[in-house]
Amino acid sequence: MINDVKTIAVLTSGGDAPGMNAAIRAVVRTGIAKGLNVKGILRGYAGLLNEEIIDMDTKSVADIIERGGTILYTARSKYFATDEGHEEGAAILKKHGIDGLVVIGGDGSFKGAQGLSHLGINTIGIPGTIDLDIACTDYTIGFDTAVNTAMEAIDKIRDTSTSHERCSVIEVMGRNAGYIALWCGIANGAEDILLPEKYDGDVDKLIEHIKETKKKGKKHHIVINAEGIGHSQELAERIEKETGMETRATILGHLQRGGSPTCKDRVYASIMGAYAVDLLADGKTNRVVAYKDGKYVDFEVDEALSMEKSISEYEYNISKNLAR
Ligand code: F6P
Repeated sequence: MINDVKTIAVLTSGGDAPGMNAAIRAVVRTGIAKGLNVKGILRGYAGLLNEEIIDMDTKSVADIIERGGTILYTARSKYFATDEGHEEGAAILKKHGIDGLVVIGGDGSFKGAQGLSHLGINTIGIPGTIDLDIACTDYTIGFDTAVNTAMEAIDKIRDTSTSHERCSVIEVMGRNAGYIALWCGIANGAEDILLPEKYDGDVDKLIEHIKETKKKGKKHHIVINAEGIGHSQELAERIEKETGMETRATILGHLQRGGSPTCKDRVYASIMGAYAVDLLADGKTNRVVAYKDGKYVDFEVDEALSMEKSISEYEYNISKNLAR
């Protein structure tokens, strides 16, 4: 552990998320305000291993707070996850005089940061993923923008679904987590929400529900299907065959990852970026910034990774009652 960090770097890793640029900007400008040298590492850990390291100043992060994606680009590196990868990465950081690193990404990225921390680089993680699937925090950078983007797209699908009196199966991202699906399901008033954490795979029950709502006179039937369940096209075909209701499948895909970040994503990302630099300046390492129970806090990486998160039963039950 280094007590007196002088040069820090920032990288983004894993899937990009709207608001990452706001976090990068905050890291760079807070670092400079504290008298630190700040560098950027392009293309995540893969770029680190290729020594894609650039100098950053206040101007290099001008006009980015409103932009989606990440100006530092991002990547996933399997090699970096190995012991050799960590050793090579730490040696490159030391060669460039970098003693502190801010990693914006998900759980896998934090493991990489932990590996570097054990090799004498002070590291701090910031939760950046649209999936909201990081247990130690109630907020992850990009989730708010992603659910708003998906919600607007689903509203549009609902219009055409109603006009044609169709069923629409709409697949949203989230990897193995159902947070995007649950939030969109509630916000869009979906008739059914299929979450990896809750769905029992009983398609017959789903089909019965669609038949029932049709009998009650509903003009459409929206099924929000989480990516972790998938098979949306097959599901749509089976629904059409067994209910007689015309059915279309739409996979929203990567449009959920782009776009200008919402106010919430810009503000939370800015605060988390500044908080991460405060931790580095205080000589802290091997920690993850989080927003928990209404406060910005930080956890040791092992503790953060050992936490578990699940869909709230209470919220899930409410979503079912509202979808009648
Ligand atoms: O983790 C963010 C995410 O968008 C997931 O929701 C999705 O499963 C995955 O990344 C897609 O990754 P890629 O862009 O590599 O296809």
